[in-house]
Amino acid sequence: MIEEVESTPAVVTKRGPIKVSRDRSKRGERQAGEAPYLLVKDLVVEFPTADGTVRAVQGLSYSLSLGRTLAIVGESGSGKSVSSMAIMGLHDPKSTRISGSIRLGEREIVNMPQESMRKHRGAGAAMIFQDPQSSLHPYFTIGNQIVEAYRAHHNVSKRAARERAVDMLGRVGIPHPRRRLDDYPHQFSGGMRQRAMIAMSLVNDPKLLIADEPTTALDVTVQAQILDLIVDLQQDFGSAVLFITHDLGVVAELADDVLVMYAGRAVEYGTVNDVLGKPLHPYTWGLLESIPAVSGDPARLHPIPGTPPSLLALPTGCSFHPRCEFRTRVPRDLCRQDLPDLEPRTADTGRMSRCHLREPDRVFETDILPRLP
Ligand SMILES: Nc1ncnc2c1ncn2[C@@H]1O[C@H](COP(=O)(O)OP(=O)(O)O)[C@@H](O)[C@H]1O
Ligand code: SF4
Ligand SMILES: [Mg+2]
Repeated sequence: MIEEVESTPAVVTKRGPIKVSRDRSKRGERQAGEAPYLLVKDLVVEFPTADGTVRAVQGLSYSLSLGRTLAIVGESGSGKSVSSMAIMGLHDPKSTRISGSIRLGEREIVNMPQESMRKHRGAGAAMIFQDPQSSLHPYFTIGNQIVEAYRAHHNVSKRAARERAVDMLGRVGIPHPRRRLDDYPHQFSGGMRQRAMIAMSLVNDPKLLIADEPTTALDVTVQAQILDLIVDLQQDFGSAVLFITHDLGVVAELADDVLVMYAGRAVEYGTVNDVLGKPLHPYTWGLLESIPAVSGDPARLHPIPGTPPSLLALPTGCSFHPRCEFRTRVPRDLCRQDLPDLEPRTADTGRMSRCHLREPDRVFETDILPRLP
């Protein structure tokens, strides 16, 4: 069931109150029998270094169906990018240990040979990065780069590929696309470069689009335009979208489902209505409480104390325990000794949480709701 807007917490961000957007009425509801397009199971990504092993992602599992948007949220360093780059096969096999399974449609991505991986990138999955510089080459025109990306997957003439590039640039809102085709990246503004990168990512109709903090470097107006663009394009292409962000206002606007990550693990998972409206995990509560309130009283801001742990030496038990004010409510020092499982919390909506606290619903209502900014 979908919550009414009025009953979700009135948290305020720079993008306005966090209330789950109404315009996509099916959001948050899963269709019965939907086969997931992306299935991540027990994914582990580790980097052996001179200082020890960086355990960036540990036993991550989730699924995503075509036409749906999953937001991954969590503080910097929680493993959001590292897990997503594994889906794109972007880790250097020489310096990375990856295990578990990533199924994309019929294909297994983990340990896929580089050559097959190149084919899969583009049409199977594409990624938009925070920084367009990292994927647009400064020495080639925008048009050339889109044409090459298209021809890598389609056996068409240069002319046909150019037409496709013009069409894509138009779709992402570049004015006079035919004229701009022969511009170099430096001739585009930051927002335009981001659009061009999106055009390049979408030129092969990828079934999965991964957007890794795609608007962080842009000003608020351009941010909103780019987000609208991603939503429109998703609706046109019916793709699955994996959206990585630390902005819960953006999550409320875009996501169907939300995965909260902490220190390389999923700590909460559920529909956007559940996770933003009735979160179960103390870390999610902390994220909600630490959002700067524009119109509210800054004194009520309640940042999560401390910093995320080193991934070289994780705390014992629940990784969040050194920062969690609720660990004293769990008997026998369990939080410090025993890593809780990610467990289903309700039978029907598939929501999960990784926490020893009993009756988190009650704690949320009595302790957290009254002090949200
Ligand atoms: N190639 C690498 N070698 C060693 N550590 C890495 C490497 N890439 C990422 N890390 C570490 O993995 C952790 C997770 O990073 P990342 O997924 O980028 O976080 P975020 O959630 O901010 O996207 C960070 O501590 C980062 O320093
Ligand atoms: S398991 Fe304990 S320390 Fe971890 S989030 Fe829950 S209450 Fe806090
Ligand atoms: Mg990142």
